[in-house]
Amino acid sequence: MPVLRDIFIHLSENKILNDTTKKIGLKFGADKVVGGIKVEDTIERIKDINNQGMSVTFDNLGEFITEKSDALWEKGNIIEMIKAIDENNVDAHASVKLSQIGLHIDYDFCLENTREILTVAKQADMFVNIDMENYAAYDDTIRLIDTVLEEFDNVGTVIQSYLFSSREDVIKYKDQRLRLVKGAYKEVPEVAFQDKRDIDAAYLRLIKTHLLEGRGFTSIATHDHNIIEETIDFIKENNIPNDQFEFQMLYGFRKDYQRNLVQRGYNTVVYVPFGYDWYAYFMRRLAERPQNINLVVKGITKD
Ligand code: FDA
Repeated sequence: MPVLRDIFIHLSENKILNDTTKKIGLKFGADKVVGGIKVEDTIERIKDINNQGMSVTFDNLGEFITEKSDALWEKGNIIEMIKAIDENNVDAHASVKLSQIGLHIDYDFCLENTREILTVAKQADMFVNIDMENYAAYDDTIRLIDTVLEEFDNVGTVIQSYLFSSREDVIKYKDQRLRLVKGAYKEVPEVAFQDKRDIDAAYLRLIKTHLLEGRGFTSIATHDHNIIEETIDFIKENNIPNDQFEFQMLYGFRKDYQRNLVQRGYNTVVYVPFGYDWYAYFMRRLAERPQNINLVVKGITKD
């Protein structure tokens, strides 16, 4: 349903709606896919997930950051969460979006903020994943990753299989911890595959390449059972040990399948977004899978 997808992407980018929804708390069923607004609530959610045998990667929600003061505030939120995870002794690592800590304001400012987060995370013995955003941010993100990889050993990034550059990047980072995804943004045909079959085929190739080549740890972040089961077959055929990879899924999605992977002995990580800025994230989830609209229907009838 490409039209619905475009509508939800458009809604996710609407600044007025983003600003308004920050003030009203989790609504329309968003609590099914967002871990909480406050750090304390989110820590409780993480404990629940840990108790089900899964680890967590948390994401402080925050978009449209155009002022340094806002970027510093978001950096403070991320650091607060890292410290809370450390103090509460829960099993979680960080996912960080560079646009939130100043990438679109000033590259050097963003680099300094990243270094600060990585330093605090290192003290807490925590890995930090730098999420990959839209293609407009790609060059600066890769540049920043290459810089911090020289200085820190607790950082990695995401490669999106829809980008033509993905194969080259997976080989470049074959010894690094990488999260592999299909890609969540709308990109032009000059830089990205448009056909789902091409994206899926590229995705499987990336997974196999990263699992076999080099020494990097592979996070396979997808809800796609065909991809996951084919990956598991590949892992068995090639005797790849379970401590070299993990599966990641978003909070609230395919919970039975998450539990099933845990029961089968596979490391499974839940991506838990939290914070006031939940709206754009929620809209993007609806864009990916318009069937998720039933979350909205249930959410409205509940409210
Ligand atoms: P896709 O949406 O292609 O679905 C394939 C098939 O799987 C469907 O046809 C259906 O059969 C089944 N399926 C999917 N969802 C289902 C559901 N909820 N219930 C039942 N069946 C379902 N993107 C990005 O650009 N940068 C990033 O940093 C990240 N980070 C990230 C972290 C994590 C943990 C995840 C899971 C995803 C991301 N993504 C991302 C998003 C990613 O790029 C992609 O947009 C989404 O995961 C959707 O694609 P899938 O691979 O999940 O399957």
